[in-house]
Amino acid sequence: MLLKFFNAEGFVFFTHLGSRKVRQMAANPNVSLLFPWLALNRQVNITGRAEKLGAFEAVKCFLLGENNGVTAHAAVEMQLAELVKRLGAEADLLATGASWGGYRIAPETLEFFQGHGPRQHDRFLYTRAADGSWSMEPLD
Ligand SMILES: Cc1cc2nc3c(=O)[nH]c(=O)nc-3n(C[C@H](O)[C@H](O)[C@H](O)COP(=O)(O)O)c2cc1C
Repeated sequence: MLLKFFNAEGFVFFTHLGSRKVRQMAANPNVSLLFPWLALNRQVNITGRAEKLGAFEAVKCFLLGENNGVTAHAAVEMQLAELVKRLGAEADLLATGASWGGYRIAPETLEFFQGHGPRQHDRFLYTRAADGSWSMEPLD
């Protein structure tokens, strides 16, 4: 999967709406995102809830990503923002007619694994509390 971007709200990707994963997320939105870097002996496992982006938000995220305020590309950003604004009027059309869509995984846990050789590793589990704060515990 291409992780389009992530920010404090979550991890965003796009997919075909007829895909198996979309059917699975509809049945059970509790999902896991696994990022293994085998060559580095490193892995991040994220769990959380999958939320479908609204059509307008999907287009905005797809075109702009998270960096709405990057000054180096200010002119391009403004043109895109204008385009997104105009597409906003077509949001209902997109919502019914689009064959692709965006999903955000709002994280509930983040587990970082770093291997150090045979049977030696560090694991840290970050868990999000109801108030949005994070706690960390080392795992065996
Ligand atoms: C480099 C790469 C990037 C991919 N990016 C995506 C993506 O962003 N969204 C997507 O739905 N599938 C992407 N795919 C295809 C998925 O691996 C997968 O085959 C497809 O989503 C169907 O999965 P499903 O049947 O479990 O839903 C990508 C594949 C590769 C190799």
